[in-house]
Amino acid sequence: MKALVLAGGTGSRLRPLSHSMPKQLVPVANKPVLMHCLDRLSEAGIREVGIIISPERGAAIREAIGDGAALGLDITYIMQDAPLGLAHCVRLARPYLGDDDFVMYLGDNILAGGVLALADRFRARRPAAQVVVTKVPDPRDYGVAEVDAAGRVTRLVEKPATPVSDLALIGVYFFTPAIHEAVAAVQPSARGELEITDAIQWLVSAGSPVTATEFTGYWKDTGRIDDLLECNRVLLEATERRLRGEIDEASEVIGAVAVEPGARIIRSRIVGPAVIGKDSLVVDSYVGQYTSIGGSCVLVGAGIEHSIVLDHVSVRDVRGIHGSLIGRSAEVCVSIGDVARNRLVIGDDTRVEVLS
Ligand code: G1P
Repeated sequence: MKALVLAGGTGSRLRPLSHSMPKQLVPVANKPVLMHCLDRLSEAGIREVGIIISPERGAAIREAIGDGAALGLDITYIMQDAPLGLAHCVRLARPYLGDDDFVMYLGDNILAGGVLALADRFRARRPAAQVVVTKVPDPRDYGVAEVDAAGRVTRLVEKPATPVSDLALIGVYFFTPAIHEAVAAVQPSARGELEITDAIQWLVSAGSPVTATEFTGYWKDTGRIDDLLECNRVLLEATERRLRGEIDEASEVIGAVAVEPGARIIRSRIVGPAVIGKDSLVVDSYVGQYTSIGGSCVLVGAGIEHSIVLDHVSVRDVRGIHGSLIGRSAEVCVSIGDVARNRLVIGDDTRVEVLS
């Protein structure tokens, strides 16, 4: 079985971060979202992975992920010139996929717990398609499945105004080559995309076996900043205490904290679960629960918790940072001098909240 990972798209809901990096490379628990996806595929025994990339963001993804050898994967990149939908991705990947079964995995979806059991179920039964569903309180933002008592899908609708059930499709789909005829048959939806949901509905209407498996573990489509912070919290729960950097006598490191090689902790208090990335310097600071600090950061007199900090960030003399996401090479500091002014140099689509 091959995998088709979708990492095109613009990430408009993740601005400003997605202006300068693909959304799939935003780190959660100090690892890009896409890398979590590749780990899940590797655990499921899949070796051959095709990754769909866009002309705007593809180079950054290739650079970060490479040919997959380090992950034990054989990765092929497939260019999608415009974001024309998930079924369009399958059409494009046809020469790569050949007549193999495959799992299609949306590169911005996080599943804690993995997909091995789902893959084994598919391998054992080989329906034309096996979708994965989970109960959500408001299914209107997702593809929604109607499933009978035997687990067979009877109807699928993409983002329905009035959902037929509370079972949302999560971004992992298993297909036999039967899907190729279906993706060739569908027409663009109201949002102008070739929907995979419509292609699977085409299989259902043609009488092909389509099954649904419920995923009961943690799942998130990391479309928004708050989703990333929540994923960070959930994945950091699995942190194992591992102190590979330098920690001085005056510091206190409590609980599940990973301090990566080359990091230095001086006169500081770190409360896990938390990760301090490699070569970062933390001085006279507090790093609280559910925080991941990237590589080569400098925190001096800082206080931060429930946050994601990317590489090369500097925070000086600012405390009380909470629920924040700080992009690469950003600086957070207090103003110097006695004039009561806030000086802000902020990129497009950024949100800054200051205490009044
Ligand atoms: C896509 C699918 C949708 C599915 C969702 C899961 O939505 O079209 O059926 O429920 O992924 O993340 P999109 O992210 O394209 O809006």
